[in-house]
Amino acid sequence: MPVSKNVKLPHLFYGGDYNPEQWPEEVWKDDMRLMNKAGVNMVSVGIFSWAALQPGPDTYDFAWLDRLMDLMAEHGIMADLATATASPPAWMAKLHPESLPVDENGARYAQGSRQHYCPNSKAFRLYGQRLVRKLAERYKEHPALAMWHINNEYACHISQCFCDECSREFRVWLEKRYGTIDELNARWGTNFWSQKYYEWDEIGLPGKTPTYANPGQQLDYKRFMSDSLLDAYLGEQRILKEITPNLPIMTNFMGAFKPLDQFEWAKHIDVITWDSYPEPTAGIPVFAAMQHDLMRSMKGGQPFILMEQVTSQVNWRQHNPLKRPGVMRLWSYQTIAHGGDGVMFFQWRQSGAGAEKFHGAMVTHTGDENSRIYREVEQLGQELKQLDALVDSRVEAKVAIVFDWHNWWALELDSKPSRDVLYLEQIKQYYQALFEHNVGVDFVQPNADLSGYKLVLAPALYMVGPGVAANLESYVTNGGTLLTTFFSGMVDENDRIHLGGYPAPLRKLLGICVEEFDPMIPGQTNGIAVSGSGEYSCSLWADLIRLEGANDRATFTTDFFAGSPAITEHSFGEGKAYYVGTQPEAGFIKQFIGGLLTDLELQAPLMAPAGVELSVRTAASGERYIFALNHNSQAANIGLSEGVFVELISGQSASTSLELAPNGVAILQLQQ
Ligand code: GAL
Repeated sequence: MPVSKNVKLPHLFYGGDYNPEQWPEEVWKDDMRLMNKAGVNMVSVGIFSWAALQPGPDTYDFAWLDRLMDLMAEHGIMADLATATASPPAWMAKLHPESLPVDENGARYAQGSRQHYCPNSKAFRLYGQRLVRKLAERYKEHPALAMWHINNEYACHISQCFCDECSREFRVWLEKRYGTIDELNARWGTNFWSQKYYEWDEIGLPGKTPTYANPGQQLDYKRFMSDSLLDAYLGEQRILKEITPNLPIMTNFMGAFKPLDQFEWAKHIDVITWDSYPEPTAGIPVFAAMQHDLMRSMKGGQPFILMEQVTSQVNWRQHNPLKRPGVMRLWSYQTIAHGGDGVMFFQWRQSGAGAEKFHGAMVTHTGDENSRIYREVEQLGQELKQLDALVDSRVEAKVAIVFDWHNWWALELDSKPSRDVLYLEQIKQYYQALFEHNVGVDFVQPNADLSGYKLVLAPALYMVGPGVAANLESYVTNGGTLLTTFFSGMVDENDRIHLGGYPAPLRKLLGICVEEFDPMIPGQTNGIAVSGSGEYSCSLWADLIRLEGANDRATFTTDFFAGSPAITEHSFGEGKAYYVGTQPEAGFIKQFIGGLLTDLELQAPLMAPAGVELSVRTAASGERYIFALNHNSQAANIGLSEGVFVELISGQSASTSLELAPNGVAILQLQQ
């Protein structure tokens, strides 16, 4: 059954990466049996099959894939069919060594692993696109084909290349962006260190340089690489669109992954999918929750699919502990709670050879249905079959966090006041506070329409590009509440300082001027005194703030700026703008955000103890599904004072309160 584009998926997808070329065909039959038994309805096929599909530059072998696709159709398993371009075959490296990527020291990568291609390589694109056309023509009418999976995790290993082809393409990209060399010189500030260019062909890639390369050049190189990889994707996507215009086309993302501007990519992807591998011993997977929200936000709330996670253990950390019983199920429901309409794994059957033979799978090396892991897989698959009602329901958040890849790149370039100001760390601290208050969060770009949100947080918004200050001002003028933090409003889209007193473009909105800033060394702290609520510790950074209409909400307690503002509040139009000029301890952030949520009448959907995560999905009919996830190792009670609920997994009704087992999950629908 084909999946229609941009609309409801037929079911919650359940399955995994399937690599049948690693197994004799007798095993495929047993795969089908075990898939059916586990409730698997879709698998990703062919991701690393290029060499199996194309033994040489002019020879193809589709016979095995024909048999496999037929077998899948017979067993009611849909194919998320890959274009197979993620790992070029050995003959390509032999015939076209220039297709192998080059690192910043000028060394070429070798064939024999995977992702060994330069995204701008003409040979890679040519052979890849030829294969894609053949696959699309061959399987366009196949009953098993549900969706296209282009390549795999673009930039996972190779996010930059410094080869001659890239250098040439970079100049083309720059000329298109800036038009004239004078404009480029102005944007990059090349009057510094004698960097001025007179001819386009004087410009190279910011590879190995004696000291810091030009920041404008570095930033544009990151943009260029993201665009180059996107262009490689689009080369395949155009062929698939032409031949199968009604099938969804996607590639799998990696969550908050720095090399790709995923908001830009998402415009060309029909269904967002991503791969999540939280550290199993790190406690509640708050960062996974954050990335689910980020992925859901890539297409304005459209449900996403978790394309990969592991059942048990990965093979690529220093130490690879197992997920304990129940954890895989709990984290799978966390995906759905945050807007996922599918839960898939890497991979279906654990490899017998190769670099991933110790990576967990749905079917382990025992090869049968008797493992703990398979039993957990089967239980979850059977449960998800009953939950079609959730498909296409939405998470409706009233809080947004501004997220911007260009800001991330610029903030973390070399030669900054502190190397410890890291974008994700700053975002995570505020996300964590919202998570602990069990309030839903969307992620938005700085230029997005913010009018649907009561609260917008913009931590470390270092880069304020064209239109951003006006957008934030109009949001607050019309009644919105904005919070931003230190080192925001510093530079334009080319990493040039906004002159005129920090944070120049946001000064009016925030009612402050930051005259100086003082990055703290590791271990150093200051304090903040908050009227009516005591003193807290802070670290990392301290701003010297002059009030220009704002009030202080907290002041520093020590050092030469003791008594000067640390946190400010400014009434602006109908709304308010807050500024946090340091990094307060986590407890304070939680409390401060809690205060804002109370003022804005934003609250958790139910009463729940610490360690119980709550999230709500709402169907088009208005029906609400409240997810309660117990991340504790003890049972937890949640209050249900609102009425009588039905719990969708067990079918039982519940009122007054509900006990969740350790790692337990409930999906509650109000009955009366
Ligand atoms: C992903 C990748 C898969 C597999 C998995 C192992 O990054 O897409 O092919 O290698 O990691 O965790």
